[in-house]
Amino acid sequence: MTSAWTNEAAIQQWDSGSTRESMEATAVSGDFSKEHLVNPVLLRLLGDVRGRRVLDAGCGNGYFSRMLAERGAQVTGVEPAASLVSFAREKSAADISYLQADLAHLPELEPFDAVVCSMVLMAIPDWKPAMRACVEALRPGGLFVFAIVHPAFEELFGTWREHGEYRRKEYLAEYEIVGRGASDFHRPISAYLNEVAALGCRVREVVEPGLDPAHGIEAYARMPNFLIVAAETGCPIGQ
Ligand SMILES: C[S@@+](CC[C@H](N)C(=O)[O-])C[C@H]1O[C@@H](n2cnc3c(N)ncnc32)[C@H](O)[C@@H]1O
Repeated sequence: MTSAWTNEAAIQQWDSGSTRESMEATAVSGDFSKEHLVNPVLLRLLGDVRGRRVLDAGCGNGYFSRMLAERGAQVTGVEPAASLVSFAREKSAADISYLQADLAHLPELEPFDAVVCSMVLMAIPDWKPAMRACVEALRPGGLFVFAIVHPAFEELFGTWREHGEYRRKEYLAEYEIVGRGASDFHRPISAYLNEVAALGCRVREVVEPGLDPAHGIEAYARMPNFLIVAAETGCPIGQ
């Protein structure tokens, strides 16, 4: 866990930093990079969600919960920040229920077919209990899909704009990345992948999406700003 930070303090930042304007601006499909780089991969990895129970872990303003519900999933969104969960509830559709909770203290819920945790784990100081809760919320053989800012290219856009290439000085240590509204926390890729393995999951696919060069954003076309992993929980022998 990143020293001096608690989950409560990080959640407080998300709560106070999420303005009505920012939530409205991203209410349909998230921001530009989610729309073009993250959402298409998440949807492909999740597959046909019709009739499936899906947990949107750390659902923010609920845009992805709504995208899943539009595709026929029965969605539960978990979000600890009051401002975000109340916005999500306000925009809610049928087949979505919301729960205000820290993932690290998730109450027991009926098992899910899939859990999606998009851009959340790097926002949580004490992230391992949160990842464990995602995996434990699944039925045997269920699908766990998570997206994080790519730990090797976290400040890609700003660095590229400044230097015309990507540069960084530190990778192995765990440290805070101060953001405009809330901080993220850097850990190496191995920390996330080894934890997935330790939780008994089998990695199915790892995606580092690149942007179509036609958009004219060289940094995103050449380097991946996101790391997206699909894993499945262990099946009991004989199933
Ligand atoms: C970058 S936002 C992503 C939100 C949403 N998944 C999306 O893609 O728009 C990070 C989210 O993680 C949530 N978060 C922070 N700490 C959390 C925790 N301990 N448990 C669950 N969610 C948390 C924040 O409140 C925020 O909604």
